[in-house]
Amino acid sequence: MTQWTATAVAHPNIALAKYWGKRDDGFNQPAVPSLSVTLAGMATKTTVTFDASFEHDTFSLAGQPVSGGPLVRVVGLLDRVRRTSGRTERAHVESVNDFPTAAGLASSASGFAALALAAAAAAGIDSDATYVSDLARRTSVSAARSAFGGFVELPAGNPGDDDLSAIPIAPPDHLDLRVIVAVTREGPKDVSSTEGMKHTVRTSPYYPAWVASAPEVCRRVREAILHRDMESLGIAAEESALAMHASSIAARPGLIYWTGATVEVLHEIRRLRARGLVAYATIDAGPHVKVLTTATDEARVVEALSELQGVKRTIPALPGLGARVVDVHIPMSRGSKS
Ligand code: PMV
Repeated sequence: MTQWTATAVAHPNIALAKYWGKRDDGFNQPAVPSLSVTLAGMATKTTVTFDASFEHDTFSLAGQPVSGGPLVRVVGLLDRVRRTSGRTERAHVESVNDFPTAAGLASSASGFAALALAAAAAAGIDSDATYVSDLARRTSVSAARSAFGGFVELPAGNPGDDDLSAIPIAPPDHLDLRVIVAVTREGPKDVSSTEGMKHTVRTSPYYPAWVASAPEVCRRVREAILHRDMESLGIAAEESALAMHASSIAARPGLIYWTGATVEVLHEIRRLRARGLVAYATIDAGPHVKVLTTATDEARVVEALSELQGVKRTIPALPGLGARVVDVHIPMSRGSKS
């Protein structure tokens, strides 16, 4: 039996300047620049095994075989790796998340970053994080940022250009930042980010204003990070999230990711700021609020959030490392070999 195996670990990231909407040239390129922080504490681990005896590509998540759309995306990435490396064997992908997929954290970002690195390593491609970022981006735009640790920028795509990788701008310990996820609803979201942004691009009269204004907000997020200016960072990050959601809310029909609890958390954050605490909000394509604060204020912010009726639980996170290869493989789940 001839096998080529590698395993990688990657973390989710939270965008401080949001990506929302693709360029329309078919290269899976973002229409706006985005800037994120990669988070420690939560991880996806993925083992890729190319084997001459496999007839099909297969994919198991948490030990369960996956088919349909998610499998098609995985196969698309494996096909790219086969084209680059010259490998022809089919592969089995075994993946586990150590955080709930429905917690509103981008499991697709950590998932495709870990898959890209594990697949490239298993196929023997001499890759660096820039290559892995571009490979992951072709399947999931936000995954391009999880190839790197700390604070990471993904520029907007250039018209007609096929390549695009994220760029690390500061290491994890550059800024005293804590991210507290206020989980406001259990269970999967109603409209995926892919569908939500497509609908916004097609129908929202505010989408052009979003595309026009996002680069300036992203620039302010970058400057604030580089200057270790938490207040300016929080203000710009909150603006980015609210503008992204405004573009969706103005779509036809309006796409509202928020619940009542989302709005309650937004108001509580303003009350915390009035009390002199560092607390700013960012929200992805779901109802949860990610609160940006510092190590000093973290405990008081968690306490205040936990007292809100609509907050089910809080998950603390802090800046973490980029995707990396690890030695210990995930055992292949039973019956998943093709
Ligand atoms: O790359 P996707 O399809 O996971 O989209 C991510 C969209 C947001 O999470 C809402 C914003 C972002 O930049 O991560």
